[in-house]
Amino acid sequence: MFNFDEIVDRTKTPCEKWNKYKEQDVIPAWVADMDFKSPPCVIDALQQRVNEGVFGYTDIDDATYDAIISFVKRHYDWDIKKEWLIFTHGVVSSMNLACLSVETQSVMTTTPIYPHFIKAPKYAHKEVLAIRMKEENNRWVLDLEAMEKAITPTCKLFMLCNPYNPAGTIFTKAELEQLGAFCLKHDLTICSDEIHADLLLSPKSRHVPIASLNLELQERTITLMAPSKTFNIAGLQASFAIIPSAELRKSFKRTMGSMVGGINLLGITALKAAYLEGDAWLNELRIYLAENLKMVQTFVSKNPKLKLLDQEATFLAWIDASALNVKSPYEFFLQHGVGLSDGEPFGDKNFVRLNFGTQKSVLETILNRMQKAMDSLC
Ligand SMILES: Cc1ncc(COP(=O)(O)O)c(C=O)c1O
Repeated sequence: MFNFDEIVDRTKTPCEKWNKYKEQDVIPAWVADMDFKSPPCVIDALQQRVNEGVFGYTDIDDATYDAIISFVKRHYDWDIKKEWLIFTHGVVSSMNLACLSVETQSVMTTTPIYPHFIKAPKYAHKEVLAIRMKEENNRWVLDLEAMEKAITPTCKLFMLCNPYNPAGTIFTKAELEQLGAFCLKHDLTICSDEIHADLLLSPKSRHVPIASLNLELQERTITLMAPSKTFNIAGLQASFAIIPSAELRKSFKRTMGSMVGGINLLGITALKAAYLEGDAWLNELRIYLAENLKMVQTFVSKNPKLKLLDQEATFLAWIDASALNVKSPYEFFLQHGVGLSDGEPFGDKNFVRLNFGTQKSVLETILNRMQKAMDSLC
């Protein structure tokens, strides 16, 4: 019903992804937004709001809160309350707010990871305990043993990315229960970035918010969510934190103060429309992305020097290119006309991250160019 094959010329707008290589024959496959138009319900709602013509200070109406509450219940089976919600203009801002508002000398997280998980604690002048994920049954998983060895009594915050960027892991209920037990044992507050919660690549998958597991975890978790990745509206800057603990919420809000504003009215408009009416679009998107992933997997399987573990979520494939034996796999593919994300800022320069949230014809060109690059090594 929705046409994800439609090419949108993004070079006509100053878009970060395509502008980076505007003057070169390079197809971008880096920053995490998609090349698809947002759902028609979002575009219609924005058009209607723009037609009203007045863009003064705004409130958030009850219908918006209800849209979030029912989306979270419908998709993740978690009952949340209106007063738990705090709106911010981005998940990265909320990660920084979490690091500033939790009293702790250090922050534990995992690596390789989306770079702001390392940057946010550093900005808050906290030491970072970054524990490398491990490979198990062809998936990237938490190394609880290593975490147990590295934890210190002065570390009171764990930053989780679920689903995981860049490796695409959806943590299972059992894995989250183990992590939850670890956090309870060491009295850690959890900041759980769940921005990719809806981008599940198998119809059987289900996203479990760690805070939904039990009341103890709910009380110690700051959950960060947003419609931005799901409905491709990152530029509208709309996100929210779910903080059930009154104490944590107070501290988070105090840190926000008057320095970090909430979301803008077009962001709220888009969020509400997407959460109320975007499910059908989202279902089709997930099928399209799963087909795209198959294309990437086929390409990788033809090239034994590349490796991709099971990818359960996100439109970002974390490819191990260490066997290429080149100084920088990112530079290598760039020279062949594909602008991937360099693994280095994520914590491993031997990897590249491929954004496959694009039209199949574009992805085909990307993979053909990468194949030519691989052939050049023979
Ligand atoms: C795990 C994760 N968190 C946060 C963000 C960015 O969120 P925002 O644009 O709302 O700051 C991204 C973007 O790629 C991400 O992958």
